[in-house]
Amino acid sequence: MRMTGTGRKPGVTLAAVACGLFVLGANAAWAADAANGKKVFEVCTGCHDGTARAVGPNLRGVYGRQSGSLADYKYSPAMKRSNLVWDDKNLHEYIANPRAKVKASNMSFRGVRDDKSIDDLVEFLKDYK
Ligand code: HEC
Repeated sequence: MRMTGTGRKPGVTLAAVACGLFVLGANAAWAADAANGKKVFEVCTGCHDGTARAVGPNLRGVYGRQSGSLADYKYSPAMKRSNLVWDDKNLHEYIANPRAKVKASNMSFRGVRDDKSIDDLVEFLKDYK
């Protein structure tokens, strides 16, 4: 079976790039970019969609929250014991390599490799409520 509608993609991508450049121009050039972070976040929403049947805990309001602290989510013992506050540093390290930061964490995710993407993602999470 062939996918249809792929012909539209280049145009959409170009528009997104142009839009991104505009946003970049409007703000300080290399500051963390929450709009880009929102796009990076799409790799997380498969497990963190904010619903009760999601694989992962709800990340709304996660910035500044104590790790493993949502009453209605069944965390791994490792996450419950981790005793972290999800600030810039801890989020950055966890997103870069979840199992290095919280050993035996249930989050089966290889992590995001690129530092700039992680900074943007953390910037986005600050306002994700
Ligand atoms: C394959 C599914 C999956 C993906 C993809 C995923 N996560 Fe998770 N995440 C989990 C699970 C499961 C947990 C709970 C871990 C535990 O209890 O050990 C978790 C926990 C977390 C926590 C701790 C939350 C808390 O309440 O303490 C943060 C922060 C987090 N994830 C961020 C992210 C971010 C950011 C991304 C995208 C870059 C992401 N996750 C991608 C499944 C996932």
